Amino acid sequence: MTNLNIRRVAGALGAEITGVDLSKDLADETIAEIRRALVEHQVIFFRDQDLTPERQAAFGRRFGPLNIHPYVSGMAGQPEVMEIIKEPSDRINFGGGWHSDMSFLRTPSIGSILYAVELPEYGGDTLFASQAAAYDALSDGLKATLDGLNAVHSASREYAATGASAQKRGSMQVAAEADGYVGEYVHPMVLTHPETGRKALYVNPAFTMKIEGWKTSESKALLEYLFQHSRYEAFTCRFAWAKGSVAFWDNRSVWHFALNDYPGQRRHMRRVTVDPWPQAASVPAAAE
Ligand code: SIN
Repeated sequence: MTNLNIRRVAGALGAEITGVDLSKDLADETIAEIRRALVEHQVIFFRDQDLTPERQAAFGRRFGPLNIHPYVSGMAGQPEVMEIIKEPSDRINFGGGWHSDMSFLRTPSIGSILYAVELPEYGGDTLFASQAAAYDALSDGLKATLDGLNAVHSASREYAATGASAQKRGSMQVAAEADGYVGEYVHPMVLTHPETGRKALYVNPAFTMKIEGWKTSESKALLEYLFQHSRYEAFTCRFAWAKGSVAFWDNRSVWHFALNDYPGQRRHMRRVTVDPWPQAASVPAAAE
């Protein structure tokens, strides 16, 4: 029996959890309950936490090994902890478009844990969209078509010289250019969640390049339809951060979008990204 209190925040996804101090060495039972809440609600929120980078990483490791981002440098001595900073002079923010973290890897991440260090006076909320709800709302015909398809994912668009993430180089240490050395990986367009069995769309505007085996024009038409459909308001929730807030989302079933509506102000977050426990990897694309 734990002291967790779980309150839903929107119809499609999202729950706020109280009654837990994430900086402590939590009992296995508490971690199991947080994990259950994560997979059920797809994104969970905590308030008033006080996490050093070490404690944030320690909490993250209870859910799986931590990812080291291939294009964004982590903190000195703690490469798994990524600082997400927008300085007052920055025009572009990191994560300012719908995406699932790390879908461009051979084995994508299962979840991301984001902690608010410093926030603008207003703005800077994050939107989340349930890709399970987006899948559920499709017709049986389109579901059947998508169920057998794979899509190719790559970081090249986002981290190429002109990509939004690459242009963050000033205040975040983003790799000089991802062109030329990023791989392409194929993932099913519909993922069956390994823990809940629920299906979710698994394509996103930032990292999904095309449908495997389809012409570019055919692929573009269907992907554009899905990208529009998947951000329908009823599938979303919105989180207004305060210092010490934490969001933990399931990248297998959720898109997110960091709003860039606080020009001239500073926003500083820290993220750890959880990989799955070692298991079979996705299939590399033929082009790799
Ligand atoms: C991210 O895409 O991981 C950043 C989200 C945010 O800063 O709200």
